[in-house]
Amino acid sequence: MRTLLTLTFFVLLGHIANCKALPIRSGRNIFNKLLVISFDGFRWDYDQDVDTPNLDKLVQEGVKAKYITPPMITMTSPSHFTTITGRWIEDHGVVHNIMFNTTTKEKIFHKETQNCSEWWDNGAMPLWITAQNQGLKTASFHYPGGGANYSGQAVNRALVESHTHPDSNETEWRENIDIVMGWFSQENFDFVTLYYGEPDKVGHRKGPETEDRKAVIMQIDRTIGYLIEAIRRHDLTHRLNVIITSDHGMTTVKKNPEVNEIKLSNYINLFKLVDFELLDYGGFGMITPKQGKEEEIYRSLLNAHPNLTVYRKQDIPESFHLAKNSRIQPIVVVGDLGFNINSRILIYVNRGDHGFHNGEMDMKTIFRAFGPDFKKNYLAEPFDSVNIYPLMCKLLGVTPAPNNGSLSFTQDMLTFHGWVSLMVVFYLAGGNASRSQMSFILVAAMVFCMFIM
Ligand SMILES: *[C@@H]1O[C@H](CO)[C@@H](O)[C@H](O)[C@H]1NC(C)=O
Ligand SMILES: *[C@@H]1O[C@H](CO)[C@@H](O)[C@H](O)[C@H]1NC(C)=O
Ligand SMILES: *[C@@H]1O[C@H](CO)[C@@H](O)[C@H](O)[C@H]1NC(C)=O
Ligand SMILES: *[C@@H]1O[C@H](CO)[C@@H](O)[C@H](O)[C@H]1NC(C)=O
Ligand SMILES: *[C@@H]1O[C@H](CO)[C@@H](O)[C@H](O)[C@H]1NC(C)=O
Ligand SMILES: *[C@@H]1O[C@H](CO)[C@@H](O)[C@H](O)[C@H]1NC(C)=O
Ligand SMILES: *[C@@H]1O[C@H](CO)[C@@H](O)[C@H](O)[C@H]1NC(C)=O
Ligand SMILES: [Zn+2]
Repeated sequence: MRTLLTLTFFVLLGHIANCKALPIRSGRNIFNKLLVISFDGFRWDYDQDVDTPNLDKLVQEGVKAKYITPPMITMTSPSHFTTITGRWIEDHGVVHNIMFNTTTKEKIFHKETQNCSEWWDNGAMPLWITAQNQGLKTASFHYPGGGANYSGQAVNRALVESHTHPDSNETEWRENIDIVMGWFSQENFDFVTLYYGEPDKVGHRKGPETEDRKAVIMQIDRTIGYLIEAIRRHDLTHRLNVIITSDHGMTTVKKNPEVNEIKLSNYINLFKLVDFELLDYGGFGMITPKQGKEEEIYRSLLNAHPNLTVYRKQDIPESFHLAKNSRIQPIVVVGDLGFNINSRILIYVNRGDHGFHNGEMDMKTIFRAFGPDFKKNYLAEPFDSVNIYPLMCKLLGVTPAPNNGSLSFTQDMLTFHGWVSLMVVFYLAGGNASRSQMSFILVAAMVFCMFIM
């Protein structure tokens, strides 16, 4: 009974410490370091039809969520930015992979946007910056958004992918891990995000249900084996937590004659009615009508194709968490799973694609975690990727910026150890707490204990 009471008390202290502002860190090593790795386009079930000994080992040695749900728009930049900010897309404003200006009609593609702060910096603070402002040292290795400035602040160290970066060079993958391990062990970085462009690329080019995709998954698995070995080599096993995740899944594009493909020019005169569009980019598109043409476009598309859904901006379901943003155009189109939104011609470049509704299983993605603060052999229920953010903050001991995530979906993954470190911080912070604050906390703790007895 006494043990239980003490335990409860500590857990409660953890809760309280978590709610209050933490003191500025002064090089204290209470919190473990955190590495977040994103393998772009890693569908939730990609490890189930390939031999993946290292990922399997991690199931025993860490946490696995059955799958996680990316935000609706299941695209690389929007989804990665939700993970690093904990904000819905309507809040963080990175609403597409393509940066655009509906006035100038300018479109800038994914990789070229990485250094464009005006695209990323819309008020939502990514964790790198928030953590830096609380005394941590952070870095981004190719992670989307890492190359921008936020309110004038750059990430302590940011490598931005070059235009010609090879996506699947295994030697380079390993070198990147060695570089990041050096940052942690020799330069005392606290938080690093590492991004890989696969298996997205192979999923697009060859399709998700191919031997090529399976080969890339095996390469990723070997890389994870290399990572585990590198962590040991750098003596980081007991100091580094690792989260492995991704931004969206992948589905096979449906084509003629299997289906009647969606081609918007069959239903509307794009030249006459449309002022600006983002189409021909997977299962999601946006249209800015010419003056006074919104109703005509909407009516024409409403029942145009059984596998096409059209929304006026004001009718976008709240569950999408999209409509609030000024960058969302007046008309939004979403294809059923596998139905790409083509404008005028059918371009058969991609065998696989994403951008479809985030409720579709093929759009779900992975979540794995291991390290000193994570339980072993723990299978977590599915959750929304927006909830990764408060988990990262908790692991790092960072007071979160305003966000749309909740710790309640992930806190059971953590060992008691994680709570204890929070408690220590509470005591340190408590050194300056007023007597009435302390009394309040103690009374609250007692009430809490009575409540659960
Ligand atoms: C688009 O470009 C115009 C002209 O350069 C500029 O005035 C406007 O602010 C830009 N719009 C956005 C949303 O950046
Ligand atoms: C970020 O700010 C720094 C310092 O003001 C500047 O040198 C750098 O060019 C900026 N980078 C971007 C991507 O805007
Ligand atoms: C982004 O900026 C960095 C530093 O200024 C530069 O080294 C890199 O080549 C740029 N990347 C792109 C994609 O423009
Ligand atoms: C792969 O990367 C390594 C290390 O960066 C480099 O030496 C090698 O030439 C690359 N291989 C290919 C095929 O590009
Ligand atoms: C496409 O629409 C047809 C007719 O409504 C429906 O039966 C089918 O399930 C749809 N396909 C997908 C992938 O949702
Ligand atoms: C998301 O979080 C922001 C910042 O706290 C808040 O302004 C916004 O209303 C939240 N969105 C939802 C849907 O709760
Ligand atoms: C407590 O307050 C003192 C003086 O105001 C300050 O120097 C010290 O850093 C504070 N300690 C903590 C843990 O916040
Ligand atoms: Zn992606």
